Amino acid sequence: MCYDMFRTKLKNAPIAVTFNDLVLLPGLARVEPSEIDLSTKFSKNIELKVPFSSAPMDTVTGSELAIALALQGGIGILHRNCSAEEEVEMAKRVKRAGSYIIREVLTITPDKTVEDAINLMISHDIHGLPVVDSQGYLIGIITWRDVRFAERDQLVRDVMTPKEKLITAEEDITIEEAKKILHKYKIEKLPIVDSKGRLKGLITYKDLRMQERYPNAIRDEEGRLRVGAAISPFDLRRAKMLEPYVDVLVIDVAHAHNANVMSAVKRIIENVSVDVVVGNIGTYEAAEDYITKVEDVAGFRVGIGSGSICTTAVITRAFAPTLFATANVADAVRDYGADIPVIADGGIRTPGDVALALALGASAVMMGNIFAGCKESLGRLVTIGGAFYKEYYGMGSARAKAKRAALDRYSIPSKDIVEGVEGLVPYRGTVEDVVREFVVGLKAAMGYAGASNIREMWERARVAFITPLGVSESKPHDIIIPQQKM
Ligand code: XMP
Repeated sequence: MCYDMFRTKLKNAPIAVTFNDLVLLPGLARVEPSEIDLSTKFSKNIELKVPFSSAPMDTVTGSELAIALALQGGIGILHRNCSAEEEVEMAKRVKRAGSYIIREVLTITPDKTVEDAINLMISHDIHGLPVVDSQGYLIGIITWRDVRFAERDQLVRDVMTPKEKLITAEEDITIEEAKKILHKYKIEKLPIVDSKGRLKGLITYKDLRMQERYPNAIRDEEGRLRVGAAISPFDLRRAKMLEPYVDVLVIDVAHAHNANVMSAVKRIIENVSVDVVVGNIGTYEAAEDYITKVEDVAGFRVGIGSGSICTTAVITRAFAPTLFATANVADAVRDYGADIPVIADGGIRTPGDVALALALGASAVMMGNIFAGCKESLGRLVTIGGAFYKEYYGMGSARAKAKRAALDRYSIPSKDIVEGVEGLVPYRGTVEDVVREFVVGLKAAMGYAGASNIREMWERARVAFITPLGVSESKPHDIIIPQQKM
């Protein structure tokens, strides 16, 4: 009798291909790089102008980075290494920033002190607060100008600008009308009230300027910036709390192809009305199981162990590299005729890596390392020998785990191992600089591949394997490059 079960297993083993294994083959270009369209979907109902999202990590995405990325046409996914209340507050900040009418207006009551008003303005980085009574009626506004010469213990009602002296507008005001009023009266803030005088919103000069400066910004139906938030699949309470303030929830577990996770995800999807992206998964079978067993998955976040801070593959040998995972999951989505965007997550360092992920079926990519280096990331800025760096660590690292409350993606008791490292990444400038650099590089890559949009990347772009020797030849070689002076 001949047993060949294990030899067959070896024979049928697929190649778990990753970024350094592949190159993009040049193809016939029909348009110039500048004409290439990068618009895409992050999830079923969330469209992006550029295919970039930021990883939900506590050295990467807080409200500041999410605002900066949404203004550039991508989307930030808020981390969950904090209380549900703190995560909601981050989401609210994004929704307040840069919208045409701020709906979640921060207000103060007249019986509070000048000190209270100052603290509120400092902690939320704003310049003024509408003053409302207990019924929500607007009775004035207090700004830095009003508090500058006031005593700290004076009451807000005694220093505010009263309603009679304020210009207000009603809810149906257009952007153009609002601009005219702000210019005409040389004011910074225009409170929006209903016919009874109850505060319904606030239009600020700063936010209107932002609308003009960032034409690529992605916004919801009310003109507010879009934002996503990470959740544990077992935290329905947090999902419900976040739902009113986010456009998409991202299930944030290291291995989502797990029966318990799948039933928990089902429950979350049944209980919220926003898109729910599931991840991380790494195989065709995982996608197939979700597509056939869990209704209404709005996106797949794919790749296991490829992240620049991951030690999962080192410790466990479990590895579904991002490109391998992307091709497998994207094929499952096609085979089942499902309309589910695939987000390639982990290991992306260059615009060329993004192009490879798109060529293998991704709709968007998620980046931790690259965005961690940005000014707006949550990581601390560090200087060493005159060079600037930002702190970056894995969400499964000892540091992140120590910070975390009981239940999370990497530290459930049955799997109490450290799966990430702690370190530094070079400081890269602002999100705007980084997105610009990636847009230019990605358009050039797509131009070489002969694709004028992301759908054409899926259909036309071809890839080839490269040998380890070829890798060295694909970089500058046989030349001495003098050390550049900073
Ligand atoms: P990059 O390469 O952009 O990858 O830094 C970011 C992605 O890595 C994942 N991630 C982890 N994976 N252990 C892991 O195995 C960790 O500690 C860890 N922290 C983050 C995550 O998918 C993220 O988007």
